[in-house]
Amino acid sequence: MLNPEIILTHYNPVTGEMHGATMVKRHLSDLRGCFADTAAYESALKAGNPLLYSVGAVEPASGEGDLHYGVGMLMPGKIGGEYFMTKGHLHSWRPAAEFYFGLTGDGVMLLEDEATGESRIVPLKPNGVVYVPGHTAHRTMNVGTTPLTYIGVYPAKAGHDYSTIAKTNFRCVVVERAGQPVMIERNNL
Ligand code: PA5
Ligand code: MN
Repeated sequence: MLNPEIILTHYNPVTGEMHGATMVKRHLSDLRGCFADTAAYESALKAGNPLLYSVGAVEPASGEGDLHYGVGMLMPGKIGGEYFMTKGHLHSWRPAAEFYFGLTGDGVMLLEDEATGESRIVPLKPNGVVYVPGHTAHRTMNVGTTPLTYIGVYPAKAGHDYSTIAKTNFRCVVVERAGQPVMIERNNL
């Protein structure tokens, strides 16, 4: 059925907000355990609890073959040497891949193969498309000075598994070196 409420959605390209979407807002306090520099995190939190990102999830139908998507808006900023980031997750249904489409701003995605730990950073920018393979943990960072917005499209049955990342975090961190985002092993910080 070509239900107009399902086949067309408009989002606000600045805030990522959409009529009818479920909005999730993540503030600094929600990112406890994500940033390597815990002292910098605690002192930033004492100064305030800013919005780091929001995701408007559009999950219209959940049948076999259906797709879901989220419009993300991630603010610029840093904690210690690390850029503002999303929590990051694996998909509960591990084979689920995802496309990320950069809309505005300057971002980087950190990808980590769950089985091997192989890690890679890739730019997420306007006119760029990032393919996140299945079985791959993914986290987004804003490495610019303006809000980063993007769309992630994933199979309806993907699901979000946050607990695995919450236990061990990503193997690598992304920090600024000479004005550029650089990936380094967490153990070598
Ligand atoms: O489904 C996705 O991968 C995205 O829409 C993310 O949910 C979004 O980038 C926010 O990241 P996280 O879900 O890790 O908090
Ligand atoms: Mn995902």
